Amino acid sequence: MQGKRILLGITGGIAAYKIAYLIRILKKQGAEVRAIMTPASSDFISPLVVSTLTENPVHIEFWNKQTGEWTNHVELALWADVLVIAPCTANTMAKMSTGICDNLLLATYFSMKSKTIIAPAMDLDMYQHPTVKRNMETLLSDGVQIIPATEGELASGLEGQGRMEEPAQIAEILQDFFRIEHKNGPSKTILITAGPTHEAMDPVRFIGNHSSGKMGFELAKTSLALGHSVILISGPSSMELVHPNLQLIRVQSAEEMLSAVQMHWNRCQVGIFSAAVADYRPEIVANEKIKKNEEHLTLNLVKNPDILSWASSNRENRQIVVGFALETNNAEENALSKLDRKKLDFIVLNEFVKDVSGFQSETNKITIFDKDKKSFVFPLKSKKEVALDILSVVLTIE
Ligand code: PMT
Repeated sequence: MQGKRILLGITGGIAAYKIAYLIRILKKQGAEVRAIMTPASSDFISPLVVSTLTENPVHIEFWNKQTGEWTNHVELALWADVLVIAPCTANTMAKMSTGICDNLLLATYFSMKSKTIIAPAMDLDMYQHPTVKRNMETLLSDGVQIIPATEGELASGLEGQGRMEEPAQIAEILQDFFRIEHKNGPSKTILITAGPTHEAMDPVRFIGNHSSGKMGFELAKTSLALGHSVILISGPSSMELVHPNLQLIRVQSAEEMLSAVQMHWNRCQVGIFSAAVADYRPEIVANEKIKKNEEHLTLNLVKNPDILSWASSNRENRQIVVGFALETNNAEENALSKLDRKKLDFIVLNEFVKDVSGFQSETNKITIFDKDKKSFVFPLKSKKEVALDILSVVLTIE
């Protein structure tokens, strides 16, 4: 965050009082912070507090009646590495999505060349209102990143979704944002496969593996935090994720996963295939539960379709394809052979260490190879950090 220029927009909601904490965190991390307040927001937090904490004058009006000074919104917009509007009211979102420009903050938003991130806050029924949802969708497609409101106790006394995300979390999202070089313009749509697949033997049994889905869900979470749209196609997993910019499709088998990928692949710019897809499935799925009458049971297995290879050989417009390889022996050799065979842009080699790296663990130890076999070696890290490393390599190749 050192030296990053953060322009804070504060609008008139009760959560505005929390912005004092956000400014403190950002300043401690070395960021330069300036603030624009809408006139209504000064009922919720004093401009004096904001000015003292940012160590900068606070901008509210286009011109200051006392001093006669004019605030140049274009200059402020060009100064900022990012505009963060927190809290962002339904009123401000409506104006941002329809082009109404009746205060300094909005004029600055419409002049921004770098990213705008908003953290909405309002009562739960307002948050669910179709108009508010529609405005959020418009803002997302305009390239605005939305930090969804969280659930909990609201100022009205009601309980539900509408609370502004906590300042510490907003600061974390900003850190992630700055860790990857952001290009201006619309965000990418990233397709991610996650989890295991379950291949049915009969109505109650299946062949599967120990993948938990953690790695794929962390990739999705981080992509969303960076402002991208995600289509997450997950096999059976207990992981949950909700975000306005996420389409989560749950499947059971490899064949279902392939159909979902085929349905969505052509509208994605990047595909990250982290699922542990079962290589084989029972040739015949019994209609009734298989009885244990015999000492031995022979199952005929047939090969599953290779989803990654399908995506790689059905690309349009320079789509980036990233595969995973979990290897127990000859790790590098096997991973590089998959990179070539499946014609990938990148392969992420997971070094399998029981309970430490691979299935179900909280951590992973990876090496990424690009198509020229250049390697990026990383130490053992949490799957969240691994996700950020993967996206940092994969999204900065253009
Ligand atoms: O879910 P977690 O518990 O967090 O664990 C994460 C993980 C270990 C499952 C993940 O990080 C991982 O390494 N996934 C790949 C597992 C693997 O080695 O798969 P593979 O070698 O069978 O396949 C190689 C690549 O082809 C993978 O990208 C896989 O998604 C893809 N594949 C494989 C078979 C198939 N039929 N279709 C595919 O798309």
